[in-house]
Amino acid sequence: MTRLIRFPAYLLAAAAAFVMAAGVAGGWRLWGSSNQGAEVETADILLGQRVYVEYCASCHGANLEGQPDWQTRRPDGRLPAPPHDATGHTWHHSTAQLIELTRKGVAGLVPGYESDMPAFEGVLTDSEIAAVIAYIASTWPQELRRR
Ligand code: HEC
Repeated sequence: MTRLIRFPAYLLAAAAAFVMAAGVAGGWRLWGSSNQGAEVETADILLGQRVYVEYCASCHGANLEGQPDWQTRRPDGRLPAPPHDATGHTWHHSTAQLIELTRKGVAGLVPGYESDMPAFEGVLTDSEIAAVIAYIASTWPQELRRR
């Protein structure tokens, strides 16, 4: 009688161990192959988020919401900072344009135009600028993202 009880219990333990081992090995395989690109991207986005909080949030908002009435010029003729979330128009621009805009500032791209948007060239490295744009884009719904 005891043997009959022990035998299935042993089988069950072996089966459980096998399932766990297969699960772990399967997990590793997934992680090792297809997830490598995603890991690099996640690191960029985390760096971008830190850069955003430190250098952009004061104007563009902690939640990328921009400044109030961002479409209305102030009495001095300058525009408030626009949101970078999906309600703004940042997502209409290509990644390359956004990087250039952040590097040169709006006045740097449009000579004679007065803007509060500073140039970050020399303040942030190119990879920090690319990372902050990647972070901003990561907050948009999939259908708004561009390459
Ligand atoms: C001192 C305030 C200020 C800071 C800090 C600031 N911005 Fe701006 N930004 C603005 C303003 C104001 C505009 C709108 C410029 C205009 O059209 O005159 C703008 C516009 C932009 C645009 C263009 C958006 C569009 O829809 O065309 C991008 C991109 C941008 N900023 C990125 C950034 C990033 C990235 C940072 C941080 C690294 C940053 N900004 C920091 C004020 C700021």
